[in-house]
Amino acid sequence: MTTYIEKLESRYTAKKFTPNISIPSKTIEDIKRILQLSPSSTNSQPWHFVIATSEESKERIAESARGFYEFNAGKITDASAVVVLCTKSTVDTDYTDTVLLQEEKDGRFPNNEVKEMNRKGREFFMLKHRDTLNDAQHWMEKQTFIALGNLLVGAEHLGLQACPMEGFDYEYLTEALALDKKGFVPTVIVSLGYGADDDFNANTPKSRLPQQSIITEI
Ligand SMILES: Cc1cc2nc3c(=O)[nH]c(=O)nc-3n(C[C@H](O)[C@H](O)[C@H](O)COP(=O)(O)O)c2cc1C
Repeated sequence: MTTYIEKLESRYTAKKFTPNISIPSKTIEDIKRILQLSPSSTNSQPWHFVIATSEESKERIAESARGFYEFNAGKITDASAVVVLCTKSTVDTDYTDTVLLQEEKDGRFPNNEVKEMNRKGREFFMLKHRDTLNDAQHWMEKQTFIALGNLLVGAEHLGLQACPMEGFDYEYLTEALALDKKGFVPTVIVSLGYGADDDFNANTPKSRLPQQSIITEI
């Protein structure tokens, strides 16, 4: 059996996909579950995921890889599925209440006292980032990046190649998917599918900084 480290070593960012191959529907369900199971600070889950599988919807997303970002367009149109990982654009207690109710429904509160402690804890962090640190958007996007990490490693487990992309026109994609009306901003795009045999990146050695320069043991 392949170890977790071996999966991390074998995964790579696909720069070219084999077009016209569908991902089995069971695997699409696994992708949804990977996204849903992603952890986040205070279980805030300040995200939404748009999954495109039709040619038309992939084309719509690829339109955001314009101008300087043109180099990413083919990675979107040739992929089998494209996930746009979005982040909430506001911090509000309606949303935190929704999370609280879900946790209650899922049986996480033995009594009202625990429920109230949970509500206060989540609100403390959200309001601290909104009103004291003024970085609520950044804080929420950090949560979405956890889902990104999960998805990239998860894709390798599912036998898929992935290409994460920040090279796209955010304003264009926000409009194209009407994300502003839903209260979200696009954070990062991930194309998923089957890497092309002639993808230079598949056979280029992985490069990372040495452990002694990135890790300190104390
Ligand atoms: C947040 C993020 C944004 C990225 N944006 C792009 C992109 O716009 N286009 C692209 O081809 N690769 C993009 N990459 C891929 C990185 O260049 C790649 O992950 C890195 O060079 C490490 O290589 P590996 O993923 O093959 O191990 C992005 C990766 C991440 C994590």
